[in-house]
Amino acid sequence: MIPKETIDKILESCIIEDVVKEHLPDLKKRGTNYWACCPFHEEKTPSFSVSPTKGIYKCFGCGKGGNSINFLMEIGSLSYPEALRELAKKYNIEIPKVDLSNEQIQLNNDRESVLIITSFANTFFQQNLWDSEEGRIIGLSYLKERGINQENIKRFEIGYSPKERKSLITNAEKNSYKLNILEKAGLTSGEGVAATDKFKNRIIFPIHNYFGKVIGFGGRSMKSNDKVKYLNSPETIVYKKSEVLYGLYFAKSYISKFNKCYLVEGYTDVISMSQAGVKNVVSSSGTSLSVKQINLIKRITNNIVLLFDSDEAGIKASFKHIDSLLKESMNVRIILFPKGEDPDSFAQKNSESDFINYLDNNEKDFIEFKTLMLNQSNDKSPAKIVENIKSIAKSISIIPDKLLRVEYCKLSSSLLQISETDLMEEVNKIKKTYKSQVPKKKSQIIENYSLLYLCEKEIIRIILNYGNQNLNFEDNCERIDDYIFKSLNKDKIIFSNEMFKKIFKEYYQINQKDNFKINDFINHSEQDVQQLCISMLSKKHEISSKWQEVHQIFTQDETSKLENTVDKALLALKQAFLKNQIEALNQLLNNEDLASNELITKLTKLNKALITVNKQLGRNFNY
Ligand code: CTP
Ligand code: MN
Repeated sequence: MIPKETIDKILESCIIEDVVKEHLPDLKKRGTNYWACCPFHEEKTPSFSVSPTKGIYKCFGCGKGGNSINFLMEIGSLSYPEALRELAKKYNIEIPKVDLSNEQIQLNNDRESVLIITSFANTFFQQNLWDSEEGRIIGLSYLKERGINQENIKRFEIGYSPKERKSLITNAEKNSYKLNILEKAGLTSGEGVAATDKFKNRIIFPIHNYFGKVIGFGGRSMKSNDKVKYLNSPETIVYKKSEVLYGLYFAKSYISKFNKCYLVEGYTDVISMSQAGVKNVVSSSGTSLSVKQINLIKRITNNIVLLFDSDEAGIKASFKHIDSLLKESMNVRIILFPKGEDPDSFAQKNSESDFINYLDNNEKDFIEFKTLMLNQSNDKSPAKIVENIKSIAKSISIIPDKLLRVEYCKLSSSLLQISETDLMEEVNKIKKTYKSQVPKKKSQIIENYSLLYLCEKEIIRIILNYGNQNLNFEDNCERIDDYIFKSLNKDKIIFSNEMFKKIFKEYYQINQKDNFKINDFINHSEQDVQQLCISMLSKKHEISSKWQEVHQIFTQDETSKLENTVDKALLALKQAFLKNQIEALNQLLNNEDLASNELITKLTKLNKALITVNKQLGRNFNY
């Protein structure tokens, strides 16, 4: 557990623009804020903003927002304490050491305990490789035979899991780690007393997350005839197969340096290429590429080169990768290796310089590659040719940039020997079929919010942004929060939305005992409250355009006429509130049993009040 004082100290020390810039080198200052293309969704023009004064980031495209901690959690798939630790490291803040005894591990959250165990296991496997006779005889000699040198065994933290059925379990228990955490970390097979080491008798490749924490393992059998060549960690709370790339932690600085990332299929491909001097390489571990994985690379570079075996399976896999990558606007190039060779075997067979030369001379544009591959087939029937054209057209249609699509049509039409217009037509035809599948955009969802919701949100937004400022009336001056509080009280308006109700209540609680600090909301412990507040604190808040369109409430600069902004928002809320009550009453009255004089009187009163509000809005604000 990290003490509250330390958390506060970390939060105070964070300089959000520095934290973000470390992961988004393109972050640029414009006005008072910083801007970049959002790392959390696909975009070409920056809508991701960082406010140094408020200590928050907010994307106006995808809506993601938060403080420095949230940013690290999101970008590095970190837990809350992990993000805090990263920041503490960055700002040289010491986190008091806790002795990780058995009970304390229990007290900590599961994620942290699992990470402690995976780190323990990682050390255990490496010690077994280097320091035990069995490890040296079986493990080290296997690695030597595969041509992996000591430097790289150490760099990639390769280990050896002994033959003995329970060696990790016994060792962990001796160090007072609990079996159930080993189970949660995916390090065992079977349960309870029947549990054995999952990875026994295998070479261990630890899998690191973006920040270098070991989150899972791949275990290779040393028997050539083993049915299960690789045994991998199951999905755990820390290991999500589709969210990590093997080798990224070691490769990221090189990917950035060379502005290029090589993508291979296997663990040994990464290691052998690194050993051959090509260190900007990661592996998808034999699975199809997920958007999350692509985004991990995309944060560092847009240029990806796929390295594949030229057998049929390899080519098929590469076709699948190409389309996923194009969708994310990556520049995709391909290198094929001679039949039967993967990057590992090819790097081991050739000298470093021959290997690097091969890479440099065999990189192909993806469309060129795909076209060549399809043309290679012996089947020259018209049906097959059409199928190939369609497949190319599909890949081109995925490219988000129109000009790039046009260029590719030019290139492919000559390779495919069809006219450019025919190909473009086919591309556009395929593109049209996507349109119907596009999910609803945020703005479309917002349309469904009720008027009352929007009005309540506007009041909360004003309080959070301007609550402690003064309104200057002819005869007096009053703080905005007090003014709003009194006005709502007078009209007996209560928030219908639970979240707004809560924020409103907390605001006035904090405000009474202490001068209001916006940080209480920016760093709120409840995530939904925090997110909502951040979205309202960001200048171009979510509903503004819609609001402006429908209600014309915002002037260009709302701060120059705060009196108007506040009064108009209060009246608009009152109007929405009354409308809602009237509707509810009307519904009650439709049910004749309930129709009573009392209700009818009430309805009359509400209608009168509504007319008054309508008049005020009309007279003062042309509303
Ligand atoms: N893989 C796996 N389980 C398997 C086979 C493969 O998880 N049974 C994954 C591993 O991440 C592996 C990758 O798919 O590294 C590529 O598989 P393959 O080409 O068969 O293995 P290589 O990487 O060539 O491994 P090696 O050189 O050790 O044979
Ligand atoms: Mn291999």
